[in-house]
Amino acid sequence: MLEFRNVTASIGIIQILRGLDFRIAPAETLALIGRNGAGKTTLLRTIMGFTRVTGEIRFGDTRLDSMAPPKRPGLGIGYSPEDRRLFSAFTVEENILLPAQAARLGTAETQKRLDRIYDILPELRDMAGRPAGNVSGGQGKMVALGRALMSGTRLVMLDEPFQGLAPALAQRYAAALRALRDADRSVTLMITESNPSLLRGFASRTLVIERGEVAEGTLDPDRRTA
Ligand SMILES: Nc1ncnc2c1ncn2[C@@H]1O[C@H](COP(=O)(O)OP(=O)(O)OP(=O)(O)O)[C@@H](O)[C@H]1O
Ligand SMILES: [Mg+2]
Repeated sequence: MLEFRNVTASIGIIQILRGLDFRIAPAETLALIGRNGAGKTTLLRTIMGFTRVTGEIRFGDTRLDSMAPPKRPGLGIGYSPEDRRLFSAFTVEENILLPAQAARLGTAETQKRLDRIYDILPELRDMAGRPAGNVSGGQGKMVALGRALMSGTRLVMLDEPFQGLAPALAQRYAAALRALRDADRSVTLMITESNPSLLRGFASRTLVIERGEVAEGTLDPDRRTA
């Protein structure tokens, strides 16, 4: 479903990722584990089209490596960046709706997806009319998750969603991810984390990224790399 063939990714003249050759199947819950600076964010940004790529990245029958970034939402890809990037003057609901415009969804489909997001994350319904600039950092992560779900019908990528969350909110976030998984068995989830223990019992497969290279791995603390 998502396939990398001999991919390198560069930012400016600096090559950050190299030798990427792997496939991700539909419905996988993938943990992407790596230390700070290993290249996790760059890998997600590469799928989003924000780096300079050699090699092939295939999403189903579509080549992502030669496609402009704004086309991802229309393909069913949703992305929650590390730093959330909410528009603080827009309301929570307006932020969640932004990818609907990029994906050119009709009114009925947009409303259907919004209702589903509010079912999975009911707290967002309560915050819907508040300016996104007025929600806490942890609540902002929930908003960013909701926004990723608006376009992410096939692939949802979450960059270090648990980082900085207080324990109660981290549990709430994990419960929301389980609710998403229960509501939709076919969507693929890619979640990056520098602390592998946060994803134990949740991920169906683990990839370890180290100095820009990706290998199969495990979340078992005694056997970090395969
Ligand atoms: N805009 C940039 N220009 C140059 N180098 C960059 C840029 N962004 C990232 N890098 C470099 O790319 C490498 C991978 O960074 P990346 O942010 O992908 O790591 P990460 O695994 O997400 O780390 P963290 O856990 O800190 O979020 C690092 O060596 C970093 O210094
Ligand atoms: Mg990162």
